[in-house]
Amino acid sequence: MALSFKAGVAAPVAGSRARSVVVRATKYDEELVATAHKIATAGRGILAMDESNATCGKRLQSIGLENTEDSRRTYRELLVTTPGLGKYISGAIMFEETLFQKTSTGKRMTECLTEQGIVPGIKVDKGLVPLANSNGESWCMGLDGLDTRCGDYYKAGARFAKWRSVVSIPAGPSLIALRDCAYGLARYAAIAQNAGLVPIVEPEVLLDGEQDIDQCLEVQEAIWAETFKYMADNKVMFEGILLKPAMVTPGADAKVKSSPETVAAYTLKMLRRRVPPAVPGIMFLSGGQSELEATLNLNAMNQSPNPWHVSFSYARALQNSVLKTWQGKPENYKAAQESLLQRAKANSDAQLGKYDASGESAAAGERTYEKGYKY
Ligand code: 13P
Repeated sequence: MALSFKAGVAAPVAGSRARSVVVRATKYDEELVATAHKIATAGRGILAMDESNATCGKRLQSIGLENTEDSRRTYRELLVTTPGLGKYISGAIMFEETLFQKTSTGKRMTECLTEQGIVPGIKVDKGLVPLANSNGESWCMGLDGLDTRCGDYYKAGARFAKWRSVVSIPAGPSLIALRDCAYGLARYAAIAQNAGLVPIVEPEVLLDGEQDIDQCLEVQEAIWAETFKYMADNKVMFEGILLKPAMVTPGADAKVKSSPETVAAYTLKMLRRRVPPAVPGIMFLSGGQSELEATLNLNAMNQSPNPWHVSFSYARALQNSVLKTWQGKPENYKAAQESLLQRAKANSDAQLGKYDASGESAAAGERTYEKGYKY
């Protein structure tokens, strides 16, 4: 029997009699591929600046600032107006508040980014809540009304999205938690693509625990297998997504640590086993590594060509020194922007596999890990 190709129609379940094969097509397909490639360009990566108001507030409080809309705006304005940032940063993920916000001079934050050739992105998940009958694990909310919100975000200038779900190794993880994480990510990715937003797919395997690097590899393989299975079921177009994995490392409390070469070898092994080459970019999170570790590990992964663009989408490993330098003081504003540029350049070099750590300060080696971290 001839196979019929029909766009936009759900495929029958396996084994049913009608054998139509679906080639999914939306009006945004070409744009999604172009956006994903624009973000995944040589020597550039993503600045994650989409901390929730509570988390951003904690950062600001650590340097003596109050957690108000105004102080969050001042800080985010510092980031997006950093001169020359677009050379190293191709995309910036924002929290909803920032997407619709204007700078002190009345310019839209999104405009500050696009002017520098940086693609504006938006965090679209609604955070984690306890998952009933699991091993104390969580699930990620946000699918209700997501299509409408994505439409509004696109109109506001966003061209990519992020959804962060988490997997805990010490918790098992349980099969229901893995499945729920993967299925939620797949539904989100399908909805985002239909609204013209490139989905960043992020099942963050948390650093918490004493597990060794082999146990981490096993769990990472499990979650990515589930995630790709459900993304395929949901007809997500792999050419129009970006991944945001955690690196494959020993747990934060493991007795044996791993060198950047070992982390790179394990992480690339996991990715080669699980990620089709159709995916344009792998944009790692830093997950509590120090700025230095995150950069060294990325550099080690780029010592030979990969099937995908292998880069960064760091929050803590790009912002830690910036906050410490700024201290909320106008006289430190410029120095803080320079410190952001310096971290962005270091990671740009690492994306190109030519990072040299010899000039790094001791502060860059400070751990940013926090147990039970909430984004
Ligand atoms: P970290 O780099 O601080 O882990 O954050 C990245 C992120 O966006 C998590 O969702």
